[in-house]
Amino acid sequence: MKVLIVGSGGREHAIAASVAKSRKVEQIYCAPGNAGISQIAQCVPIGAMEFDRLASFAREKAIDLVVIGMDDPLVGGLTDVLEAAGIRVFGPRRNAAILEGSKAFSKDLMKKYHIPTAAYENFSSPGEALAYLETARMPVVVKADGLALGKGVLICNTLQEARDAVITIMEKKQFGDAGNRIVIEEFMTGREVSVLSFVDGKTIRTMTSAQDHKRAGDGDTGLNTGGMGTFSPSPFYTQEIDAFCQKHIYQATVDAMAAEGRPFQGIIFFGLMLTESGPKVLEYNARFGDPEAQVVLPRMKNDLVEVMEACIDGRLDQITLDFEENAAVCVVLASGGYPVSYEKGFAISGLDAFDGRKDCFCFHAGTAWKDGEIVTNGGRVLGISALGKDLKEARAKAYEAAQWVSFQNQYMRHDIGRAIDEA
Ligand code: AMP
Ligand code: GLY
Repeated sequence: MKVLIVGSGGREHAIAASVAKSRKVEQIYCAPGNAGISQIAQCVPIGAMEFDRLASFAREKAIDLVVIGMDDPLVGGLTDVLEAAGIRVFGPRRNAAILEGSKAFSKDLMKKYHIPTAAYENFSSPGEALAYLETARMPVVVKADGLALGKGVLICNTLQEARDAVITIMEKKQFGDAGNRIVIEEFMTGREVSVLSFVDGKTIRTMTSAQDHKRAGDGDTGLNTGGMGTFSPSPFYTQEIDAFCQKHIYQATVDAMAAEGRPFQGIIFFGLMLTESGPKVLEYNARFGDPEAQVVLPRMKNDLVEVMEACIDGRLDQITLDFEENAAVCVVLASGGYPVSYEKGFAISGLDAFDGRKDCFCFHAGTAWKDGEIVTNGGRVLGISALGKDLKEARAKAYEAAQWVSFQNQYMRHDIGRAIDEA
């Protein structure tokens, strides 16, 4: 088979590495990819939002399967465009990707189908939102409805902060049209868990759990980022919690989407909060997490392409997912200044140390080739993932391997997986 992966981050590198292990695959392309991906796939300079060019390329190369890694093209309808051109796609159509694309939609869906989530109200006018805040109990969480690179969520401790958040999102349009509508919801406390799943429209198969670290600095300080590191599995995600979620959250979400005439095929990523009154949905994503994929996929025993094809063909009920009884930790090496502003173009040294390793992987996120050298090309540059017999071993190995590479202005968090010590 020939597979085309759409995207250019660490997640897409992890997907490409798993696709490369499939016995069914002979050639991998990636649009646009990065320097790391170019070592296992042929990268083509087509952007993820260039739908017509992607469709032409896929037809010209007789691509058997397109895997869309990123949220923007999914929410924008790339699956629909490719399918109309007769191409097989792993990833939801536009009418199902709305599960991630509109928080107002997903909150209304959860309310209608009694899926546990924080209490909320949706607003499309700033006046009504501000009036509502006068009687709301603080803290509240104000969320831009649309995609905002994980930044459109503002936690507000005081009424004044909440008012400012409404103005920032709806009037100053800090997140553009993503802020035409907002969700204001109850603040929840608890541990966060990410559970990714394969879905074929009717059946859902969840993968092993993971936990992300979203803030830029040690001790969960600083700004929200795309994710500074992950570990898998989460020791807090017990069998009892899983049983509850399978029934009241996972299958319920798939059934709800089908009942709405929006059957979901692809990945549903459940962002959960384990609260005192039970697990609740924080958010849905319509794709693998980044950097969750970098700890979940290396632990998966199944042939990824076989599972994706089962999703497309509606026979996921015949698949049992199988994960190694081990653990993984991913530490992100970022450019100093991320997530705000940072320099690019610094040479990266030490990458060869990962060649041929089966227990440590260097997934490239923001990297590029320049004059025969691999250089930094983004905020998150590399994701160093390590496997171990347990989380502590995996963490020690990931931090050791993080020392093998270096580039100017590099920074990382030093406490990825610290929660493990409390388990
Ligand atoms: P989201 O993009 O909706 O997952 O939000 C990003 C992050 O904001 C989450 O990972 C949580 O840490 C935090 N967050 C979102 N909604 C809530 C909530 N209702 N209560 C507490 N924290 C929240
Ligand atoms: N790491 C969180 C996300 O991919 O949305």
